[in-house]
Amino acid sequence: MAYIGGVSATARACSNIALVKYWGKRDAALNLPAAGSLSLTLAGLVTETTVELSERLVADSLVLNGVSVDPRRTTQFLDLIRARAGITTRARVTSTNDFPTASGLASSASGYAALAVAGAAACGVELAPRELSLLARRGSGSAARSIFGGLVRMHAGDRDADAYAEPIAWPLVDRLRMVIAVVGGGVPKAHGSTSAMDHTAATSPYYDAWRHDVVPRDLVSATAALVALDLAALGEIAEANALAMHASAIAARPAVIYWQPPTIALLAEVRALRARGLVAWATIDAGPHVKVLTTVDDARRVADAVREVPGVTSVITSAPGPGAALI
Ligand code: DP6
Repeated sequence: MAYIGGVSATARACSNIALVKYWGKRDAALNLPAAGSLSLTLAGLVTETTVELSERLVADSLVLNGVSVDPRRTTQFLDLIRARAGITTRARVTSTNDFPTASGLASSASGYAALAVAGAAACGVELAPRELSLLARRGSGSAARSIFGGLVRMHAGDRDADAYAEPIAWPLVDRLRMVIAVVGGGVPKAHGSTSAMDHTAATSPYYDAWRHDVVPRDLVSATAALVALDLAALGEIAEANALAMHASAIAARPAVIYWQPPTIALLAEVRALRARGLVAWATIDAGPHVKVLTTVDDARRVADAVREVPGVTSVITSAPGPGAALI
């Protein structure tokens, strides 16, 4: 890593949706995940972030989607980069999402991946993709995966330097599509994922089963499904994994319930689509939206079907996306 100059940089990163979820931390300060995960980076959910350093600034600032917001987490994150660069220069950060922010569409994943890439470049710190993944993880666990495109595996690792993501080459990846049924207009979620996963880990009777049984088993079977080029097996694991994650959260005390009535209706619709022979598997994150894993051939029919479910306010169909990069 060398100081290579730099003052302003802009990066673009795609969000990602996990097929085997990350839910729970081993270490809050280093943001180490309790278990590994597997995700698909999505071209249809993009964050663009500019970091401008200036000696004239007395504090960092953050403008998110045109609105000035508290820059505290941005400052903490940029401090990690500034420490490596040996500088203290403050930054003006401007970030725009082309999809609803903080509503369970993983804006923190694309957000911190874009901030890692733009921040490192602006501070003149050259980082290899793995180092960028380790850095992005400090901002948000799922962001470590958005450094890479397509299918991505995140390692829980035994220590800080081992908890990074890496891309998985899969011959069928270009055939995958994710149809996102946005419920309730994509308003900000009621429970932030960080506190909700800590609360689940601390109080849910099902959390240990999730962490020690479900996730390790699903990661092994998902890897086998990829090797066998078996999309149906992968979809089945993804849907079951998401439901198990939510079961652990729902069993927390008090309960963490992200679902709304349209969420359940969408789960039923996805089953009905499968019964009609379409490729459709549901996954749900820290919000009410349902994301349907499907193929390029079936995406249109899946999108048309979920759009008709009452309470669905918009539908985004996304192809796999590239890794985070400077523009
Ligand atoms: C349900 O990455 O948002 O989407 O590390 O606390 O920022 P922090 O959490 P975050 O959590 C993602 C949770 C999830 C599952 C997943 O993406 O793996």
